[in-house]
Amino acid sequence: MEIIRSVKSLDAAVEAARQEGKSIGLVPTMGALHAGHRSLVERARSENDIVIVSVFVNPTQFNNPDDLRTYPRTEEADCRMLEECGVDFAFVPSIEEVYPEPDTRVFDLGPVAEVMEGAMRPGHFNGVAQIVSKLFAMTRPTRAYFGEKDFQQIAVIRRMVALEGFELEIVPCPIVRESDGLALSSRNVRLSAEARAIAPAIRRILLESLRLKADGMSPVETAKATEAAINGVAGLETEYYQIVDAASMQPIGSWDEAGEHGAVGCVTVYCGGVRLIDNIRY
Ligand code: PAJ
Repeated sequence: MEIIRSVKSLDAAVEAARQEGKSIGLVPTMGALHAGHRSLVERARSENDIVIVSVFVNPTQFNNPDDLRTYPRTEEADCRMLEECGVDFAFVPSIEEVYPEPDTRVFDLGPVAEVMEGAMRPGHFNGVAQIVSKLFAMTRPTRAYFGEKDFQQIAVIRRMVALEGFELEIVPCPIVRESDGLALSSRNVRLSAEARAIAPAIRRILLESLRLKADGMSPVETAKATEAAINGVAGLETEYYQIVDAASMQPIGSWDEAGEHGAVGCVTVYCGGVRLIDNIRY
């Protein structure tokens, strides 16, 4: 595996691969890699000739300076994992390399970016669109891999791809969980032992909420009851729980309203001061 730090070297590597007609799989990450990231990398490895993984803590998508400052950074361990997975190129650039000029682009992301994470974290999705569009332009991938843990992020990226006219396939990948159900996240290392013990209740309650639908509750009633159940656990506090159309990200009034993509319930929960997200398909 080659570790690439400059856009120029990345460009040369990509150009060589394209000249040879090779397919390119891209996995964008912010590092502090875990088994969730690994599943994306392995999938990319199995489907492409060349695999590029970017490791870059993108400042423009952080709406909270403390979150950016304390975001875990484990470059050595990350590169070791990527090497083990048979990655061809780890792209690990500096901030100056990615943003030689401030990125002032404002993307017209529309309704998918206005709800849930978009409403709670102003500017977050515009920052994601900035960095992912740059990575797509730099690597010109055949396929790009994203985890369904950040369900809304995938919808936003699809919108950005449509706006910018990138020709590539977005490959959504299932959520990887701890054995007790907690979704893997780079931020889980911030959980105290006590918070870590409470956090699996989120998944348990989401699973139990499938029963509410089966029992005839509407999406709004199901969301309300599920949110109340989470808030009933000492140490958990929701920011939102919404059941939305899995493509448009808009709240649905009835289960039939969700199009062919189905319905997904998306939640953000504070647990011991750590902001956790998760979701479930209905
Ligand atoms: P990051 O949080 O590092 O996540 C990188 C990718 O790994 C994302 O597509 C995310 O959904 C996926 N991922 C994280 N935890 C996962 C899990 N438990 N199971 C499956 N996939 C998981 O998301 C970002 O970085 C950034 O916003 C990025 C897209 C890199 C742009 O900066």
